[in-house]
Amino acid sequence: MRKALHRGSFPYSRMRRLRSSPSIRNLVAETEISVHDLILPLFVIDGVNQCQPVKSMPGIKRLSIDLLLKEVVEAESLGISTVALFPVIPKSLKTGTAEESYNDNGLIQTAIRELKVNAPMIGIIADVALDPYTVHGHDGIINECSGYVLNDATNEILVKQALSLAYAGADIVAPSDMMDGRIGIIREKLEEAGFENTKIMAYAAKYASGYYGPFRDAIGSATSRSIIDKSTYQLDFRNVKEALHECSLDLSEGADMLLIKPGMPYLDVLKSVVDEFAVPTFAFQVSGEYAMHCAAFDNNWLPREQIILESLTTFKRAGATGILTYFAREAAHLLSKST
Ligand code: PBG
Repeated sequence: MRKALHRGSFPYSRMRRLRSSPSIRNLVAETEISVHDLILPLFVIDGVNQCQPVKSMPGIKRLSIDLLLKEVVEAESLGISTVALFPVIPKSLKTGTAEESYNDNGLIQTAIRELKVNAPMIGIIADVALDPYTVHGHDGIINECSGYVLNDATNEILVKQALSLAYAGADIVAPSDMMDGRIGIIREKLEEAGFENTKIMAYAAKYASGYYGPFRDAIGSATSRSIIDKSTYQLDFRNVKEALHECSLDLSEGADMLLIKPGMPYLDVLKSVVDEFAVPTFAFQVSGEYAMHCAAFDNNWLPREQIILESLTTFKRAGATGILTYFAREAAHLLSKST
């Protein structure tokens, strides 16, 4: 008990007094979650009137741009102000060097332009990483012999991708690749090209995690051979000091905001980063967490509405500025009911 006055023992110190009615509980609540904290991730596919369910993520669909626009307008009407776009790229366009990632007329670039015309107020986060565009599903280009993901050669492509996304109108570019030094060169090239207000949300502490499985399924980056091992570039899940080091580097290179990922199993990392750096810090409740929750809901092992709000509130309690969550729409709906 740091600074609380000691008022003597029971019955003077009845903790339950402040829990005894909704009004007093609301009055003393330390954490509040609002619709403004929610960022909705969306999967985009080519074509028209396409709506494909993602098997491992019940309720989540890959949408073609025409349906994406409708989805975003609806999300906006619920109060959601930012979406994060992820592309599903046809196999025929995937290569070893991910040229499609910086095609100015590519799927995501087109989606951004369309959104800017049809839903101009929505904030758009565009992922900067090559995994949707490479044949092997790694976030960078690889040395064919060793399979090692090449850092500096990958950075050159990431810069082109980031510029192409900024040019299309992305408000925020979010490098999720974990190459060294990419924030610095992306920032430099954005400045040179006149995009001084394009924001960078750095996936600064992104762990090599098994919780991304359903996402890889959704964007079709999983290879049938085996689980892709990204541990030569994503963080080791045994480490937290290393995460702080990553965050400080990304900030010094020009990141505006940080992102920690996965979410709930890494709240300690989130809290450490929030305590260390005075910058907006976001958390990603990732696909595996979503899938786990849904499995429990579908079996009636957990109460859906209560758990959605409880799980998202834990991020705020740990200090998150906002949360990327596949539950964003549903949570927005629940929040509007509860106020
Ligand atoms: C791609 C990327 C991944 C996620 C976001 N961007 C997958 C990965 O690193 O393999 C995961 C998101 C999720 O699981 O919901 N760089």
